[in-house]
Amino acid sequence: MKKLLYLPALFILFQHTASGQDSKIAVRVDSVLKLMTLQEKVGQLNQYSGRVVTGPVNDQKTNMLNDIQQGNVGSMLNVKGVKDTREIQAVALKSRLKIPLLFSLDVIHGYKTVFPVPLAEAASWDLDAIRASAHVAARESAASGIHWTFAPMVDVGRDPRWGRVMEGAGEDTYLGSLIAAARVKGFQGDHLGGTDAIMACAKHFAAYGAAIAGRDYNAVDLSDQQLWQTYLPPFKAAVDAGVATFMNSFNTINGVPATGNSYLQRTILKGKWNFNGFVVSDWGSIGEMVPWGFATDLKDASLKAITAGSDMDMESLAYKNNLVQLVKEGQVKIELIDDAVRRILYQKFLLGLFDDPYKFSDAGREKKVMNDKTSYLVARDIAQKSIVLLKNTKELLPLQKAVKNIVVIGPLAKAKRDLEGGWIVESDTTKVISLYEGLLARAGKANISFIKGCDISGTDQSGFPAAVAAVQQADVVIMALGESFEMTGEATSRADLSLPGVQMELFKAVKAAGKPVVSVLMAGRPMIFNEIAEQSDAILYAWYLGEQGGTAIANVLYGDYNPSGKLPSTFPRSVGQIPLSYQVYNTGRPVKNPKDIKYKSAYIDELNSPRYAFGYGLSYTSFSYTGLTLSAPDMTQDGKVQLSFTLKNTGKYAGAEVVQLYLRDLVSTVVRPLKELKDFQKVMLKAGESKVITFSISKEKLAYYNHDLNFVAEPGFFSLMVGSASDDIRLEAKLELK
Ligand code: GLC
Repeated sequence: MKKLLYLPALFILFQHTASGQDSKIAVRVDSVLKLMTLQEKVGQLNQYSGRVVTGPVNDQKTNMLNDIQQGNVGSMLNVKGVKDTREIQAVALKSRLKIPLLFSLDVIHGYKTVFPVPLAEAASWDLDAIRASAHVAARESAASGIHWTFAPMVDVGRDPRWGRVMEGAGEDTYLGSLIAAARVKGFQGDHLGGTDAIMACAKHFAAYGAAIAGRDYNAVDLSDQQLWQTYLPPFKAAVDAGVATFMNSFNTINGVPATGNSYLQRTILKGKWNFNGFVVSDWGSIGEMVPWGFATDLKDASLKAITAGSDMDMESLAYKNNLVQLVKEGQVKIELIDDAVRRILYQKFLLGLFDDPYKFSDAGREKKVMNDKTSYLVARDIAQKSIVLLKNTKELLPLQKAVKNIVVIGPLAKAKRDLEGGWIVESDTTKVISLYEGLLARAGKANISFIKGCDISGTDQSGFPAAVAAVQQADVVIMALGESFEMTGEATSRADLSLPGVQMELFKAVKAAGKPVVSVLMAGRPMIFNEIAEQSDAILYAWYLGEQGGTAIANVLYGDYNPSGKLPSTFPRSVGQIPLSYQVYNTGRPVKNPKDIKYKSAYIDELNSPRYAFGYGLSYTSFSYTGLTLSAPDMTQDGKVQLSFTLKNTGKYAGAEVVQLYLRDLVSTVVRPLKELKDFQKVMLKAGESKVITFSISKEKLAYYNHDLNFVAEPGFFSLMVGSASDDIRLEAKLELK
């Protein structure tokens, strides 16, 4: 970690009214702060979980309600609903200063209405749809007593062995930054204080997605240059979007746990980025600095965490049991405690909780919002947009009227709970539309039959004969295969990314029966399915699409919605290629011909290329890219150049295309990847329609973090590439930066 001289923590503490804060609120905060005892101040830094736990159970909690009444708790997580939040808030209001609690919850992809998992939504590349999804989640949560969600997860993830890729926006920094901002705005609106907005939380700060070997909770080793170039920008985008809170991460970065990392939390976040919200530790991560070997005990861990800028302690009880003593011993300055308390009280005032602690716990509003019949339409819209068409030979899709007999085979065909994915608030499968149900509702006169064939996991192949027999009567087979919802999310790293159980064997047995096969794959991560990729006639990647999944898939299969999704993550051919992203380097020995790899940067047993590339996704129509022009062949540092070209829908269906702008810095003081996404537009065109697309090139698109961590655009030549995917470049031009 570059030893940047960081400003003493005290410097930051004297910014009582940090820039961007409301001075009236800051005055109110200080009026409360000066009434508080040291014990009460430490109480605000303590967060307890309710009865539902989302981490290792901490049995040290003796009498939670008594602690709340004594003013020893500032926030609760995993308590929801008007009834429970009112009851517990009432206990907090019996404390001496009656400081209201913050209620927080993992509202990751919906509260009552279950949306597609975040990685699926990222495949839509539709920022408005993503924001709308978060807004519905905020409106429903805020009607149920929730003030704060632990979302968006903005970790760049380039290792699909890490199950938490499901919670993020994929592998790309630029796309991930735009999605981070969209989600923050969706949750928080343009400002906090309304009853349809909740505090968002940018997590997990930072670089959690780079865990060694894709193993959850593991160490992260990477250069400062990579940290700034790849992993930090989505967090900065969240700060720029006004995110109210951050959550740090379980991993170390170059040997220093994020929770105890002053460079991250004070130098960068609260210093350079001037973040004036607060940082909550991840579940127990303060205490986990002891097993990491970074702290001798919980007292030492508390000292290191508060010094490093961790404001609130989720569930380790380290602060509650040690901070008062540390201040009394002079090991922790009271200014550090006051700064953390100010940050937390500020948000409570901003939300309006001091004026009305029950503002978000209104039974009438809860009932009204939960029965809003329009929310499912928002879920269906983004579910359709998240589906990625990976293959469609002989235009098998969309299904035509001539297809009279369809057999649906596979363990995910009637699945409901799996379609909700991981990290949901509460499962209600009565609302979930399975793939089979979606097809039945859409198929009209076609006959739809179902055979499960096998389970998601396990070795039982006894269902194969019935599945193969059913194929005889079918015109088309639709196979629904993939992971179960428990296989992605937290603590779900996999060393093998193939389809679980005997699903691939089932696919081969069914395919051998000789009928056209549409494979619909459902998972929370990229899986490896090479035979399906080669032998299926059509493939949809349907992630976990939430409660509207079955209808969304049926609408795509029948062409009511022309698929427009593009992969936000690279799909490897084999686990051995991981970590694999589209941002590969040319190396000094690039492979020009896959048949000539001797002494080249290549594998002797695998191709370098992925099974499916970042940004890839087909449509039922086709698009041409022609006539690229640059408004000038060169530009100065403060100049701008317009890149334009014509996009035409050359097929017979209306459809949306995500046109992608990539760039390569041809010669630089820090070697740059062969391509980096710098802009995109999702363009809807009717059949035959054309449109001139323009991207504006400024030095921000040309710049990168160099070895000195300066964000610089170096003079020289750049290749500008426009395409339909990172491996499908249609047009190219060279630009010189003078
Ligand atoms: C978990 C997760 C974090 C979540 C928190 C509260 O361990 O790492 O993403 O927000 O605990 O549930």
